[in-house]
Amino acid sequence: MNIDFTFTESHTSSADVAILCVYANNRLSTSAERLDKETNGVISDILARQKKFTGKAGQILSLNAPKDSAYGHFILVGFGDADKLTALCYETAGGSVFPTLKSLSAEKAVLFIDDEATREKVTSGLATAHMVTGIALRSYNFSKYKQQNKDDEECSSNNLSEVIAVTSAKDAVKAAESAFVNLKASAEGTFLARDLMNEPPNFLYPESFAQRIKDEMKPLGVKVEVIDHKKMEKLGMGAALAVGKGSERPPCMVVMHWDGAGKKSENAPLAFVGKGVTFDTGGISIKPAGGMDEMKMDMGGAAAVCGLMKTLASRKAKVNVVAIVGLAENMPSHNAYRPGDVVTSMSGKTIEVLNTDAEGRLVLADALTYIQNTYNPELVIDLATLTGAILVALGMEYSGAFINDNEMWANLEDASKNTGEKLWRMPLDEAYRKQMDGNIADLNNLGNEGRFGGACTAAGFLECFIDKDRKWAHLDIAGTMAWKKDKPTVPKGPVGFGVRVLNKFIADHYEQK
Ligand code: BES
Ligand code: MN
Ligand code: ZN
Repeated sequence: MNIDFTFTESHTSSADVAILCVYANNRLSTSAERLDKETNGVISDILARQKKFTGKAGQILSLNAPKDSAYGHFILVGFGDADKLTALCYETAGGSVFPTLKSLSAEKAVLFIDDEATREKVTSGLATAHMVTGIALRSYNFSKYKQQNKDDEECSSNNLSEVIAVTSAKDAVKAAESAFVNLKASAEGTFLARDLMNEPPNFLYPESFAQRIKDEMKPLGVKVEVIDHKKMEKLGMGAALAVGKGSERPPCMVVMHWDGAGKKSENAPLAFVGKGVTFDTGGISIKPAGGMDEMKMDMGGAAAVCGLMKTLASRKAKVNVVAIVGLAENMPSHNAYRPGDVVTSMSGKTIEVLNTDAEGRLVLADALTYIQNTYNPELVIDLATLTGAILVALGMEYSGAFINDNEMWANLEDASKNTGEKLWRMPLDEAYRKQMDGNIADLNNLGNEGRFGGACTAAGFLECFIDKDRKWAHLDIAGTMAWKKDKPTVPKGPVGFGVRVLNKFIADHYEQK
């Protein structure tokens, strides 16, 4: 993150921009009103001369400050009805401000959140931390592979280097600072996930992904263990190995440990599992050409798991977590697995491959078996860009959540509402699981109703690899892995979906206080 964020009770020196809150019907916040008075009514005058900006949530209006002001511009941010505001509203607003800061080439911005922000659902301190987080999340940019015009000021994506958040009450500054420690960690974890998803598949493949995980995690105190393809063979991971067979680049799995609650903790660890198909051509059941480049992001689940581990370690979360990512490249070649092949998974269950493009579930099957056998975790959550069918069901707005435990769903739903990473509960039903019963093997990797209910049958397949009584959630994030256009807190491109909702889920329900 290349913006420096600071929190203070008061700020008087100059800055390029002052960001000011305005409520419904253009009611000015305390700071906006003060600056309006100091500038002989510049703000109220401009507001009176136009009709469009009314202080509704999501509205932004930028105006030139007068020559003798400490600021170059004022950016007015609409918040609507002040009574209904939540922390997430501030985060969204912060994200919406960023493009205006960028277009003004602002380097230094001052944000004012006043005492009146404190309401039933949010305090001014929390509001401040979340608004700043929104700015941070939207400022993400990936320019690693741009060579041309690199040093050209005009082309530089972002000039913003400093944001000073002013919140008048003393306790509010402290509250904002401490909340931001955690929020910043989750933004940084999200950035790692986005970075990994942006990487081109000729640079990010199983081995280089594993190396990258070591480089990122070890300095944070996360233990990393690589299960290379030879070890995978010894472990009998025949399903995951089959997926990687067609590629020059051998598959592997990477295990990460964060022991934030200490070795002596009596609690079993929480486990996270990520699908890391670094490129999904479909294999011999090859995909159509259009948009196939997006399949470099078929490791979005693994990326989110890495981002989550980074977040937990950065904020020294008091919880024990173990994570595994299954890394493979799904390629067609003379070595590739074929439709019709029967493979033996680590669980011992045999699987007939009816379509080599249904590869994610094969990778996950062995990763799920390994993590449960080795660590007997309190619960397991897997994340995967698993099916196109979840896109048909929920579009690009919600990830599908298949969960075998109501309390876990309640906690996930809560975290989802708080972070804005939307989850919709989907059915786990024996009927879907039965559809995966095999013809000549124990299981098929395709449901027998073809594409109908594809996300549900995929979940049914995974369920065959979950131990009895194990709490488990499967998040199908294929629809939410990348936005086609800008959203308030995510610029167009990979989202890093999962880091923030799972970080919140852990922080609120599983961490030692
Ligand atoms: N990686 C894809 C799913 C996907 C689709 C992710 C679109 C992101 C965007 C997955 O491996 C896949 O190919 N699934 C097939 C399964 C089918 C063959 C049963 C699908 O959804 O078509
Ligand atoms: Mn596929
Ligand atoms: Zn895939």
